[in-house]
Amino acid sequence: MVDLATIHVDDLMKREAKKELERLAKLILKHDILYHNNDAPEISDAEYDELRKRNSAIEIRFPEYIREDSPSKRVGAPTLFDVADQKQSKGFDKIKHVRPMLSLDNAFNDDDVHDFVSRVKRFLGLADSDIVALTAEPKIDGLSLALRYEKGELVSAATRGDGVTGENVTANALTIETIPAMLKGGGWPDVLEVRGEVYMGKADFLHLNESQLEKGGKVFANPRNAAAGSLRQLDTKITASRPLRFFAYAWGDISNMPEQNQMRMVERFKEWGFDINPLMSVFEATDGALERYRLIEAQRPTLDYDIDGVVYKVDRLDWQDRLGMVSRAPRWAIAHKFPAEKAITIVRDIDIQVGRTGALTPVAKLEPITVGGVVVSNATLHNRDEIKRLDVRIGDTVTIQRAGDVIPQVVSVDTSNRRETIPEFIFPDVCPVCNSPAFAEGDDVVVRCTGGMLCEAQKVEGLRHFVSRNAFDIDGMGEKQIAQFYERGLINEFADIFKLETYNDASDSPIQKWEGWGDLSVTNLMQAIDARRRIEFDRFLFALGIRHLGQQTAKLFARHYGDYETFIKAIEASVAGDETARTDMTDIDGIGDKMVDTFLTFFADENNKRIVDNLAAELTIIPLEIQSTDSPVAGKTVVFTGSLEKMSRNEAKAKAESLGAKVAGSVSKKTDMVIAGPGAGSKLKKAQDLGVQTLTEEEWLELISGL
Ligand code: IVH
Repeated sequence: MVDLATIHVDDLMKREAKKELERLAKLILKHDILYHNNDAPEISDAEYDELRKRNSAIEIRFPEYIREDSPSKRVGAPTLFDVADQKQSKGFDKIKHVRPMLSLDNAFNDDDVHDFVSRVKRFLGLADSDIVALTAEPKIDGLSLALRYEKGELVSAATRGDGVTGENVTANALTIETIPAMLKGGGWPDVLEVRGEVYMGKADFLHLNESQLEKGGKVFANPRNAAAGSLRQLDTKITASRPLRFFAYAWGDISNMPEQNQMRMVERFKEWGFDINPLMSVFEATDGALERYRLIEAQRPTLDYDIDGVVYKVDRLDWQDRLGMVSRAPRWAIAHKFPAEKAITIVRDIDIQVGRTGALTPVAKLEPITVGGVVVSNATLHNRDEIKRLDVRIGDTVTIQRAGDVIPQVVSVDTSNRRETIPEFIFPDVCPVCNSPAFAEGDDVVVRCTGGMLCEAQKVEGLRHFVSRNAFDIDGMGEKQIAQFYERGLINEFADIFKLETYNDASDSPIQKWEGWGDLSVTNLMQAIDARRRIEFDRFLFALGIRHLGQQTAKLFARHYGDYETFIKAIEASVAGDETARTDMTDIDGIGDKMVDTFLTFFADENNKRIVDNLAAELTIIPLEIQSTDSPVAGKTVVFTGSLEKMSRNEAKAKAESLGAKVAGSVSKKTDMVIAGPGAGSKLKKAQDLGVQTLTEEEWLELISGL
């Protein structure tokens, strides 16, 4: 039989094309999973790109055979896949975390760690000379797990998932020897969620792979993948046969706090039957913690488990509470990463890519090379200044590095053997896509295309982002359809998506007549679009694709302003130069000056504002649902006025917002509570006139105590 893979796309017969699309769908899926889920690619990026190109080329010739599961309809890999048998393990129920499972910010050197401590002190209003004790412990390279105990008994185990919702893997967790089904000793809170890392030892990992090889089973790329693959098995017996272990290092939901310090809490975990990391210790001076980092780094090769850094945590829990979190990471902890793995290769070319926000990113196209078990053929050069700093040129020999999931980067250039004829790389001053001028604003290092939504790269990327899963998530409208509608002139800006039906009805060549489409698929698409005319406020904001505005930040804005009308009025006022409106925005906990600047610059652009207004006119924007919490201030609008004595204004706001309250800058009929400190003036008076409840700082702290 002829090997279909060897036939040129132009020569494929219909029946062969169908078969070939089926083969490619399976193959690309396999490689997506190996890359995204297992971190263990088996082919180079270039080979992978070839497969995708071939798939698209066949789809263009034979659109009638585009598969439901076509790789062109999907980005990345679906979650929870078992490559071994390619069966999707849809079987796990979801568990919503009572408290989100956070990630950690990174520090890459001692200075970053000192900066972290300074930030902590500043936030808490401490003096430089005050002592902030830190715990230091290895950062285990496994996967995090949340174990819920009620009255000492394990009732559920959930993976991290997206941090908000994870998978219920209770039955599997119970097979892990170092996870107690019943807590030992006593004194545990009635409700206790222990968090920690599931991992596989290095020696166990090697044994597992040997026996997998013998059995003809799946071989894992590294201990972390082996641990993840073993825990997420639908068949509990398989998990039970795998040598998984667990280190406890944190907690989530808890009915009462038995200790005041991180270190003491973790020691309690030990009394209750958990393994805790023996290298964890507490240090009064930052230098002591840094010494522990070096000790752990020195021991790394001889430890029986993989680690990728050291985690520092503020030891005092009352301080942790006050510090709270920003975006998805706590302010009271940081991960000090070990240096990355390196390799030497050659730069074949330098490409300039234009992103959704117009940033021109130079990418080094490399002679493929393996770094830390992964084939790398692209490395980011970050920006124009970085190219200058490195003086990297096409043809150069370079050292690249790859750390964790971070995009590989070029760290240095070996100029010793460089041929003299190699010219310096000239960074473009026009956008390679739309030819608009491109330059870096002020002291920004990023060169940006000035074409905005008029630049095709930005427009199409922006539209793609708009329909993506965490944004509007319109069923049946993916990258491919966006590109198709854009190319055919049906969609040019966000609002056009919601006018698609009207445009289509008036068109001479309606979509249902296009190859690959039919009445049913068009009806379904229009229904899916209609279903999204009601959209949550935070999703709406996130979908706009504004620089720096991630999902978490969008939530912060949505929560702060409540509804879209209030928000857009505040934006218009700020853009018009109203300082109070702007300050009200920069005061939102977790929103920095830079974010606000970008935000306002975006809305100050008439074209952008028009695009957003057009879109909003098509939609009903639903205010963010206030999370039901037991807090007495959830959903309440509160105003702080006068000077606060126990905490900074920022801290007070952060705390109130974390309890579900909306913090407003001025008093109105909508205000539920005014917290007035000494020196309060007109706001307090207005509250009294309006009959709004007023509290002293003491009373406020009393009200929220224990939360
Ligand atoms: S503390 C609120 N401690 O690192 C902080 N995390 O990059 C919660 N990890 O998702 C995490 N070892 O899976 C903490 N000793 C350690 C850790 C650790 C590994 C993982 C954890 C987390 C990720 C964040």
